Amino acid sequence: MSDAPMSAKTAAETTAPAETTMPAETTAPAETKKASWLHNAVGYEVYIRSFADSTGNGIGDLTGITQRLEYLAWLGIDIVWITPCYPSPMADHGYDVADYVDIEPIFGDLQAMQALIDRAHELGLRVVLDIVPNHSSNQHRWFRSAVEDPTGPHRDYYLWRDPAPDGGPPNNWVAHFGGPAWTLDEASGQYYCHLFLPEQPDLNWRNPALRAEFEQTLEFWFERGIDGFRIDVAHALIKDSEFRDNPQTADPAGITHPRDQFRCFEHRYDLEQPESLEIFREWRRIAERYDSALIGETYVLEPAGLANLVPGDGLHLGFWFAPMQMPWTAPDITKTLRETSARLGDRVGWVQSSHDESRPATRFGGGDLGRNRSLAFAAMLFGLPGVPFIYQGEELGLEDGVVPPELRSDPIATRNPGAVGRDVCRTPMPWGPGRNLGFSSADQTWLPLGHGVEDSVEWQRQNPDAHVHKMRSLLRFRRELRDLDPEVTWLEAPEGVVAFQRGDHLFALNTHDEATDFAPGGMWSVVHRTGTGSAARSVPSIHIEGTETVAARRVG
Ligand code: GLC
Repeated sequence: MSDAPMSAKTAAETTAPAETTMPAETTAPAETKKASWLHNAVGYEVYIRSFADSTGNGIGDLTGITQRLEYLAWLGIDIVWITPCYPSPMADHGYDVADYVDIEPIFGDLQAMQALIDRAHELGLRVVLDIVPNHSSNQHRWFRSAVEDPTGPHRDYYLWRDPAPDGGPPNNWVAHFGGPAWTLDEASGQYYCHLFLPEQPDLNWRNPALRAEFEQTLEFWFERGIDGFRIDVAHALIKDSEFRDNPQTADPAGITHPRDQFRCFEHRYDLEQPESLEIFREWRRIAERYDSALIGETYVLEPAGLANLVPGDGLHLGFWFAPMQMPWTAPDITKTLRETSARLGDRVGWVQSSHDESRPATRFGGGDLGRNRSLAFAAMLFGLPGVPFIYQGEELGLEDGVVPPELRSDPIATRNPGAVGRDVCRTPMPWGPGRNLGFSSADQTWLPLGHGVEDSVEWQRQNPDAHVHKMRSLLRFRRELRDLDPEVTWLEAPEGVVAFQRGDHLFALNTHDEATDFAPGGMWSVVHRTGTGSAARSVPSIHIEGTETVAARRVG
């Protein structure tokens, strides 16, 4: 059970939208109108298929999550975000939704969802569902009706265009998962747009009836007591009304990974259209009636672009994904954090891992080095205004699992020869000794196990030096930081050290392997460290071990 249960739901206070064009060196005012409980919370992403299987079919489910909520409360997180659990043909493992207001039978039913929500609330945890509004499944009744009846009301729920004069796709847009962003519907002779798989047709957000459907969907889930939504692909709902070609910046020929092909274009017309903001303003009005939060998957790697998408009166938070691409050097870390923090203030969702990316322990060098770097980096994120999220297994310091090519399941890998895909970060959660490391009683799990018993929750909980205790202690420390001064000042520090101050607290990350000393002026007491050094009291010079973050409080 978390030691500081969250406050009861109250109406969020009203403030004006924050500025979007702040100079990089200024901290954004913390005046964002927000769900009252979001302030100071820490989130935890559950990838439902790989978290805990209660039925023995080899795939995780809702009851599996409910059974593990006590662990999450023990860990000390506040928000549980659950990846899509709606009926789905699973072309993209649930991100292809066939019905927005029901539960996929593999994962349970509405009753199981209610039990989850109720148990989470008993434990002081908030529940955030993942809504997928950019596209539906091609098996959604709207799309089936759009194909079967081109003159019917659902046709315009999707984006249809006539072929180009040569008969090919209407423009040069490419899909995130490979190939053109258009597929021909032979019966009608028109193409439909899909920024992901052909099985994920993009919805037409200029259609008011479609918007009304989604508003009802939000209310359906809010009425069941959920506390917010993570909004999939929140940066792309509206497309250019003229469907103009994107400027091409490089030649995609010979590039195997679809993500790199996608980066050969400047996404001027398919992503980040300003009209999207109006959708989230409408959603905000609904969310506020339930004191609930809107958290955008805002895949925009420029701080200014992210700030434009999260101006303060729509999405409460936008995720900042640049840490997933960040090399491990002090200048790169500063660059990744500083401007975004300045522009977004407390409207940023900080992440270093997710179900879409190689795990940070692997990216940052593997083994203990990678794990320690990831923890030290987490401590910096925890020190900044905003809401950090960890991804299942990050608290265990998990590295990527090994998934042999013949067992790969991610469409990025199965449909693009040569691309590894995202299965490596989605292998089942290791819970303890025994069959399938406690994840499932099945003969075979949907992805192979990626870890050993010594990585597991149970093993780590019994070993005081294990990673899970370090993360738990960081989570406890974060609770002590409630209501820390929102103003962030970045400090001059020794080479290899990234440091900032918030009020009377200082956070300093030593990116080097060797220890260093940092004398920022004044006297300091160490209040938290991610490494093993001692807690110095009232010292002018702070000793930071290699690959460690130290938090200190000014005492003179
Ligand atoms: C988001 C999800 C990813 C999914 C994609 C399409 O990026 O995080 O897993 O494949 O959207 O819905």
